[in-house]
Amino acid sequence: MLPDDLRAALDQALARHSPQELARSVARLTERYRGGAAGETAHIRGQADVAAYAAYRMPATYEAAALAMRHAAARVPGFAPVSQLDAGGGTGAAIWAAGATWPSLRQVTVIERDPQIIDLGRRLARTAQAAGVRGTAWRQAAVAAGLDRPRADLATMSYALGEFPERDRPEVVRWLARDAAMVLVVEPGTPAGYATIAAARETLLAEGLSVVAPCPHGGACPIEPGRDWCHFSVRLPRTSLHRQVKSGTLSFEDEKFAYVAATVRPAPGPAADRVLRHPQKRKGVVSLRLCSDAGDIHDVLVSKRQGELYRRARDVGWGDAWGDMLGDTREDAGDADRPADDAGQR
Ligand SMILES: C[S@@+](CC[C@H](N)C(=O)[O-])C[C@H]1O[C@@H](n2cnc3c(N)ncnc32)[C@H](O)[C@@H]1O
Repeated sequence: MLPDDLRAALDQALARHSPQELARSVARLTERYRGGAAGETAHIRGQADVAAYAAYRMPATYEAAALAMRHAAARVPGFAPVSQLDAGGGTGAAIWAAGATWPSLRQVTVIERDPQIIDLGRRLARTAQAAGVRGTAWRQAAVAAGLDRPRADLATMSYALGEFPERDRPEVVRWLARDAAMVLVVEPGTPAGYATIAAARETLLAEGLSVVAPCPHGGACPIEPGRDWCHFSVRLPRTSLHRQVKSGTLSFEDEKFAYVAATVRPAPGPAADRVLRHPQKRKGVVSLRLCSDAGDIHDVLVSKRQGELYRRARDVGWGDAWGDMLGDTREDAGDADRPADDAGQR
């Protein structure tokens, strides 16, 4: 759920535009984003596009960033960042998400190239309850490897790295990671988004950072490129305006995203396994596909006979951590027990 202050700020800002105007912009934006990386020409052009982006994408990018941050925070419980740099920050989804995850944040900087986007982001942030979000410094600049930047405990890029030409991404990631205690990059949960994240993960590891989420290990990603992609999902309610501008009827949508969070200092203790897709629930049995700290992917079956473990398995969700209590209860599910397909999730 979007926090009330962000919801109210969005409602107020979007009231300036008719649903029809926003819907037209949404259609254009969708077309452009489907076309791929933005390159020289920005996808979001003009005030109606900016408002449309805030109406139809910001709630989803907020929820994706917030869930990725919760996973990272759970892995590094003592992390209490004071400063954040958000590059390609748009209307500020990742600063709102960080403000909700780490109330310690006080010095927040967004670097964004588009002045109209900054204008809306600034208006939204003005009424935020989180002091860090409210006091955000909005800086208009094109992110590039040579750009000067403030030091920040937390450095984020949410749905922005993929807009850079592929050849520039490693140096942008190195630039982002400079002096940061934690780096978080979020992308759409598509094969292309996962490829962007996988490459960013390689760059961060080569820079000596430790991956803290979603991967429970710092080895090679066990996912075979081209056959599968690591991504997660978060469900968010749609407002009636949202339904109008997206011409949809469902009261919710599932935002698929991929992400990586890495820290300069290794996270304490061993990492729990990560649930890689929706748990498959059959009568008396839950099947979990897990990425483990050994760097492999395997399935486990948890049956009703396993009491407390089974109750936990029924509650665990796609993307959650799973571990500690497994002990010798692992059973190899084998191919025969795998659901024939996981359509809609992969
Ligand atoms: C898809 S939006 C994501 C916005 C926001 N981070 C979010 O999660 O909702 C991508 C943003 O990156 C910005 N952007 C793209 N290339 C940029 C660059 N080289 N420097 C600064 N901002 C850039 C765009 O203007 C746009 O606001």
